[in-house]
Amino acid sequence: MRKELTIGNIKIFPAVVLAPIAGYTDSVYRRICKRMGAGLVFTELVSADGILHNFDATRKYAEFTDEERPIAVQIFGSSPASMAEAASIVYRKFKPDIIDINLGCPAKKIVKKGAGASLLKDLDRALKIVSSVAEKVPIPVTVKTRKGWDNNTIIGKDFFIALEEAGVKAITIHSRTAKEGFPSPADWDFIKELKQTLNIPVIGNGSVKSPTDVERMLEYTGCDGVMIGRGALGNPWIFKQTKELFLTGKTETDITPVERVKMCIEHIKAYLHYHNPELVNKIIKKHIACYIKHIPEASKHRHALLNSRTLEQTLSLLTEITKNYNELSYSC
Ligand SMILES: Cc1cc2nc3c(=O)[nH]c(=O)nc-3n(C[C@H](O)[C@H](O)[C@H](O)COP(=O)(O)O)c2cc1C
Repeated sequence: MRKELTIGNIKIFPAVVLAPIAGYTDSVYRRICKRMGAGLVFTELVSADGILHNFDATRKYAEFTDEERPIAVQIFGSSPASMAEAASIVYRKFKPDIIDINLGCPAKKIVKKGAGASLLKDLDRALKIVSSVAEKVPIPVTVKTRKGWDNNTIIGKDFFIALEEAGVKAITIHSRTAKEGFPSPADWDFIKELKQTLNIPVIGNGSVKSPTDVERMLEYTGCDGVMIGRGALGNPWIFKQTKELFLTGKTETDITPVERVKMCIEHIKAYLHYHNPELVNKIIKKHIACYIKHIPEASKHRHALLNSRTLEQTLSLLTEITKNYNELSYSC
């Protein structure tokens, strides 16, 4: 059996983590993944300035339910003082288990504010931010980062050791540079070296699409946990299958197209507790695109589903698909 991941005083099993994916891993999807066995989930990145100045508009990104615990709220910003103050507000208002600091987002709107991956070009500032946050809150502080800004500025061991000395309790490494696109494979050798350098847990991330990939990353790099992003979208079962693999050495879970479509319908119903049907019909489309990727003959349904104008129509298309597949017996 694989061992648990320990971050500060928090025990996490299985050591498999749902990545923060802005626009996807909201409270509803986090709960679905948690029920499927994710050991730890992250909120998407939350603006420290938003927390300080525009709390009502920003708070929805930091909110979560007890069902999601243990949970890390991820914050981003460029000023040590603001980040520390924002972390303190998040801690007092929401009491998450972990505060995570984003040092890796390459999105233009984040980078131009001097936050996210742009801090990989100013490691002194990055370290000040991390130390200020770690000093301010009494819960574990973690960092999610990348290999560097680009291939000419790969981060050296010293920086990671300094993060550990500043009180960081775990590091997630998305092992690409900020300039690298997703098609290039993540560099697992970097994760392996980081694991050999640090005493705190290292969570590996990148190029993990299946339970077998999780096992391979753990074996190859020796890392303490694995974070899954795109591989978990429309496929929350990846956590259930990985947990089974950890516990028994094999996975028995075969997911039929009907189960996949039913999960998508559940996802819609959960959104209806928060939003009106019109909005749900908009926000569910990107999830539908992910769910149906895993269904045979997906292209037959994609166009109609992604173009349906009302939630009623979307639900009736999904129900129709379950009926069609019920007559066949697929598993995938
Ligand atoms: C649409 C999208 C949004 C993302 N949003 C965040 C985010 O809010 N915070 C963060 O740290 N990483 C974010 N990431 C990066 C993922 O957490 C993860 O590091 C990356 O997708 C690599 O893992 P994967 O290969 O398993 O997908 C995002 C990635 C994508 C594709």
